[in-house]
Amino acid sequence: MPKMTLEDIDVTSKKILVRVDFNVPINDDGTISDDSRVQSCLPTIKYLMEHHARIILCSHFGRPEGKVVEYLRLAPIAGRLSELLGKPVEALRDCIGPEVKSAVDKLTNGDIILLENLRFHPEEEANDTNFAQTLAGLADIYVNDAFGTSHRTHASVVGIAEFLPAVSGYLMDKELSFLSGALENPKRPFAAVVGGAKLSGKLGVLANIIQKVDILIIGGGMAATFIKSQGYGIGNSMFESDKLDYVKKLIAEAESSKVRLLLPQDVVVTQKLVTGSDILTVPVTEIPDAWLIADIGPNTIKVFSAELRNCRTVIWNGPMGVYEIPQSAKGTHSIARVLAEIESTTVIGGGSTAEVVIEMGLADKISHVSTGGGASLEFLEGKILPGIAVLHDK
Ligand code: 3PG
Repeated sequence: MPKMTLEDIDVTSKKILVRVDFNVPINDDGTISDDSRVQSCLPTIKYLMEHHARIILCSHFGRPEGKVVEYLRLAPIAGRLSELLGKPVEALRDCIGPEVKSAVDKLTNGDIILLENLRFHPEEEANDTNFAQTLAGLADIYVNDAFGTSHRTHASVVGIAEFLPAVSGYLMDKELSFLSGALENPKRPFAAVVGGAKLSGKLGVLANIIQKVDILIIGGGMAATFIKSQGYGIGNSMFESDKLDYVKKLIAEAESSKVRLLLPQDVVVTQKLVTGSDILTVPVTEIPDAWLIADIGPNTIKVFSAELRNCRTVIWNGPMGVYEIPQSAKGTHSIARVLAEIESTTVIGGGSTAEVVIEMGLADKISHVSTGGGASLEFLEGKILPGIAVLHDK
């Protein structure tokens, strides 16, 4: 069911509390290393400015565990937002209390303030009702633009919707329309590319997605368990022995439901996962003892790429190899380039896959790069995210 958005309500002269996810990565010196999450909220903030609303932004940042942690204050992020908007954004020193109330009361139409890190109060993560009500008391309307946090049952995400009309912002709306559009109404052929180190972290995604796709492509460290389940040696590669039966069942399910499940045919192996170590390319049937899988091989890249070029919808979650090390980054980079080249609907399911695409400068050639890590994963697992469930249906 589609959710009401900020366009469905009158925001003029209203105090609008916007939950954003400004949980951005930072460098050692505290500067922001990737401001995509701030940039992604600009359409909502600009709409509210243009429609003369009084804008109260709130977010968490890191995991301060209910205490004030100086380096997790939001002031530097307010600074970045202010640069992007070309307009002052005042950062408050708390998210509730008399000073916050008085700053909110002074807002005039089009003004923006950013409340302090919500997680400085333990009540935020506890979804405390009084805390949610106090936050709600600052505003007339609640807008959730924090897709990346919508899997958390926290006061500013879930509890608050009991006390204010609750609608989605543009980013939330975009995330939902691309992710659910791809899962529920894809143009076919529809492929999912699933990778990453740990199979156990992707079981829910695989179980859900196999029911939707025409082609399921497996890469990354997790492919080792699939290769092992076929009876091949995998050298020193990590695998999950307790998941071998699961993998066999998944392969059988793919066969019976006519999903083409594609595994690597060749792999890049190494003896040590460090920059500059020797690598070999071998068929999966010939992985030498004492070597371990670091990436998909060139034939596999060719096969996967050719398949993806024929698809009209592709979802990708999880790298194809240890892309942090240059000699095993080719698989992940090649898939990113193919997705950037094809005309189809392409969706990157957040986390490290999104980081790669952004680092490569390809984000604007992908239909949608999700800002959610854990949230995208749970969405792809078919879960109903609590922060989305509480928003008003259209
Ligand atoms: C994220 O970065 O995935 C979100 O901001 C949620 O953060 P959390 O995992 O600390 O709840």
